[in-house]
Amino acid sequence: MRFGYFDDGTREYVIETPRTPYPWINYLGTEDFFSLISHTAGGYCFYRDARFRRILRYRYNNVPADAGGRYLYIRDGDDVWTPSWMPMKSELATYQCRHGLGTTRITGARNGVTAEMLFVVPLGETAEIQQLTLTNTSVHTKELRLFSFVEFCLWNAWDDQTNFQRNFSTGEVEVDGSLIIHKTEYRERRNHFAVFGVNAPVAGFDTDRETFLGLYNGFHEPEAVLEGSPRNSVASGWAPVGSHCLEVSLAPGESRQFVFVLGYVENPVDRKWESPGVVNKERARALMARFDSPQHVADAVAELRDYWSEMLGTYTLASPDERLDRMVNIWNPYQCMVTFNMSRSASYFESGIGRGMGFRDSNQDLLGFVHLVPERARQRIIDIASTQFADGSAYHQYQPLTKKGNHDIGSGFNDDPLWLIAGVAAYIKETGDFAILEEDVSFDNNPDDSASLFEHLKRSFHFTLSNLGPHGLPLIGRADWNDCLNLNCFSEAPDEPYQTTANREGRTAESLFIAGQFVHVAPDFAALADHMGFSDESAAALIHAQDMERAVLDHGWDGEWFLRAYDFFGNKVGSRECEEGRIFIESQGYCVMAGIGVDDGKALRALDAVKEHLDSGYGIVLNQPAYSRYHVELGEISSYPPGYKENAGIFCHNNPWVMIAETRVGRGDRAFEYYKKLAPAYLEEMSDVHRTEPYVYSQMVAGKDAIRHGEAKNSWLTGTAAWNYVAIAHHMLGVRPEFEGLRVSPCIGPEIPGFTVTRKCRGATYVIRVTNSLRHPEPRLAVNGEAIQGTLLPYAPVGTTVTVDCVT
Ligand code: BGC
Repeated sequence: MRFGYFDDGTREYVIETPRTPYPWINYLGTEDFFSLISHTAGGYCFYRDARFRRILRYRYNNVPADAGGRYLYIRDGDDVWTPSWMPMKSELATYQCRHGLGTTRITGARNGVTAEMLFVVPLGETAEIQQLTLTNTSVHTKELRLFSFVEFCLWNAWDDQTNFQRNFSTGEVEVDGSLIIHKTEYRERRNHFAVFGVNAPVAGFDTDRETFLGLYNGFHEPEAVLEGSPRNSVASGWAPVGSHCLEVSLAPGESRQFVFVLGYVENPVDRKWESPGVVNKERARALMARFDSPQHVADAVAELRDYWSEMLGTYTLASPDERLDRMVNIWNPYQCMVTFNMSRSASYFESGIGRGMGFRDSNQDLLGFVHLVPERARQRIIDIASTQFADGSAYHQYQPLTKKGNHDIGSGFNDDPLWLIAGVAAYIKETGDFAILEEDVSFDNNPDDSASLFEHLKRSFHFTLSNLGPHGLPLIGRADWNDCLNLNCFSEAPDEPYQTTANREGRTAESLFIAGQFVHVAPDFAALADHMGFSDESAAALIHAQDMERAVLDHGWDGEWFLRAYDFFGNKVGSRECEEGRIFIESQGYCVMAGIGVDDGKALRALDAVKEHLDSGYGIVLNQPAYSRYHVELGEISSYPPGYKENAGIFCHNNPWVMIAETRVGRGDRAFEYYKKLAPAYLEEMSDVHRTEPYVYSQMVAGKDAIRHGEAKNSWLTGTAAWNYVAIAHHMLGVRPEFEGLRVSPCIGPEIPGFTVTRKCRGATYVIRVTNSLRHPEPRLAVNGEAIQGTLLPYAPVGTTVTVDCVT
């Protein structure tokens, strides 16, 4: 069952009913100011850091779901309704929500009034614009009262939800005409405030929640609105809100527009005040002036559209399959941008207070992002590398505001360092910017302890080598990619964290996943070392990779597939000898991606085992059989009921590893079959089962052991976005930048008989026309009509366009 449709022309998903199976959200904002907005206008916004600079309050896991957001109440006679349906839930004559690239447009109509709300965070601004277009479609004059509404968060979102003994007393606001200023804590250490203004005179306002709603009322029964009169309340402590009351008279057929601006403003410390106790509002006024007319809003929307067109123009696909085109051209790169911006911090499943930027997560996000805005990728690499420790290990997370490593979670996830090599290699392949390797980068953000970025990569590589276990395989530490496989943590007390309570000091638990990862990144590391002139380092890296491969084949092959790990006691994990959890996906995908076992048939056997034991109607599950009881020696993985999350859920992040592995052994048809099971555009028809947004990937879909098999959770912020992009764009469609040229090597099976990819890279444009006849063992290429040897196109001069014909 569908709840909307894709409008590819406007690059929007159009939701046709507010009663979706779950709140379907969008992200506004590109760099500093971000909004999460659901199809019923729920959500919140923040400046840079969802924990430390939260602007609107949002209560997760609330009743009803998704209560709280930016609401507009319309009072028409005695009838009060909200065009976003929530919170009033009055029946609407029409409802539509269009989630687009950085814009959301919600339209509701009732009793001859149509209200369209356009939400956008313009480029370069730290504000959410909410433009209302109100039309009287009836034959009578309408006398309306409008009440805007937002609830402010007291900046630190964690404190805001926990420290009531303090924060019920700190709230402060100022009201100046149509400007509502939220200035809690501005009197002392903050030099920022929030502003909520409108470009029209107001008939009144409210800033105290209790006065506006009534103490025992929900958002659907605001007393001030139900009684039709603002109270002009000025918050003092408790819960500051912002509500403007506007009086509007509309003749039949008449339309009017209002622009509300919700902004974040910083003042220089010495210019905080206009007069004692009165906030200097110069910058707030300037912000309002920039958006004082619908034309300015239209310009901002047009600018944003061009920004996206330019970015998405880097890789475009024209194929006979419109669902594939919309994933590759629009929604997958869009999600890659959002994951780049948010890492795993703020979504409808990540509270914005728990996790900052993940070291491994952000490096993987780069894989799907580098071609969009390479300069931002460059900065991100430097930020991430600056949190690395001098021994090559890494903080698992860092805070986006301070860019410093997060002590609470610390280090010890032994796959982390190697992801830095993958992220940097992807960036250099895209840009050719080898100079980044020479940047001086701190360790642990200590300016007195720094080295070149290349040295950071070297320490990453050697970190694995200095931490090998009894079989010559990498030690897992607290966990590897699978955060929930905790082999050095025997947690028996309910209140301990699974991942960071390391109560075993063993150097026995080894990871086949890290082994595969090491072999996979080694050639890139060697190429970079070569480029830096360190040929010995380069040659040694390749020998280390061979040794690792040998160790995998000698100690990591279980007969039909790759083992997953050795545990603390040296017992096998992911082996046919195990009672449960006999086979895992990660080591099959990663070892084959690395090329292990491709020559001697082991790779094919491992992938066939995946198909046989792990595949399901909705994707490949993580392990089988699911753990049916808690295994203290394995940790969190076995804490989940069978079929959920890492315990045999379809963990969408690692499915593309198998897709890429399938292309490695030449089975593009199978890769594409897996691809279609996960790609959201192909799941639109089953939105009632899937439940999350049909335009973005979710982290997890309940596996075949789960009662709710097929139901997705944790949409948006997942490495699934980047990896599926890599799988389809680089490996199935087969167009990927390498250090020395653009590789064209499609492997997608007969379902896509031909396609054209237009790829911009390093200043040149490549128009690649593929005839997928599947007749040749190696694709045959002609460049500007001339046949070439092999599948690597040397990079063309800046400004040129190259036509490539490829026959498979
Ligand atoms: C985390 C990843 C992790 C994955 C598997 C995700 O929630 O963001 O870092 O690799 O789970 O455990």
